[in-house]
Amino acid sequence: MLRLDKYISNATDLSRVEAKRYVKYGEVTIDGEKATNAAQKITGDETICIDGSAISLAKNRYFMLNKPAGVVSATKDQNNSTAVDLIFEHRSDELQIAGRLDIETTGLVLVTDDGQWNHRLTSPRNDFQKIYEVTLGVAITAADREKLANGVWLEDEKHPSLPATLDVLDERRVLLSIADGKYQQIKRMFAELGNHVESLHRTQVGDIVLDEDLEPGDYRALTETEVASVMAPKS
Ligand code: URA
Repeated sequence: MLRLDKYISNATDLSRVEAKRYVKYGEVTIDGEKATNAAQKITGDETICIDGSAISLAKNRYFMLNKPAGVVSATKDQNNSTAVDLIFEHRSDELQIAGRLDIETTGLVLVTDDGQWNHRLTSPRNDFQKIYEVTLGVAITAADREKLANGVWLEDEKHPSLPATLDVLDERRVLLSIADGKYQQIKRMFAELGNHVESLHRTQVGDIVLDEDLEPGDYRALTETEVASVMAPKS
């Protein structure tokens, strides 16, 4: 059991003094009722909200963001807004990006404060499949498809890329699934084939699929099943 003001300061970036102030000004609710006493004991089973948004103690948090172009996959940046700037949650300074996209790439970015989960998802040893919609500068050929299926050898790499799976949507648009995640891998793969990427949109990482209801810039919490899919043993 914790005092309400202590619970708030543990669960957010507010100090105890600030937490008391929020209670005093009627901005804290416990199970929908306005809290009046900062010393009230909290068991942990209650739903506590500040300014209408729920807070909780040190449980890990996991989000999917539909990253718009022009946003960097980082926690801080001097010149551009970051993926974490788009996640309006308490303790956002604890959030990390689980797998980066280039600034102009759009689509699925996973954000969490669980370092172990992040590591499992992004460790090259685990090879989670990532699916991208790729728009190409020139039409894809049968020879390109074969090279991608065999694994393209990128300049300055010690090993060829893992075989990629390709689904041709039309001659300049493909769905590409890759398991590795080298720096600018898709752009470099197509450059190696004498083509170039005009746009790139990530739709899936492992079993986690970008929610079609999310507009660019929107995010939502992952479901328990989505979170668990990363820790499940891989077949
Ligand atoms: N490959 C790229 O070239 N860029 C990305 O953002 C992701 C994969």
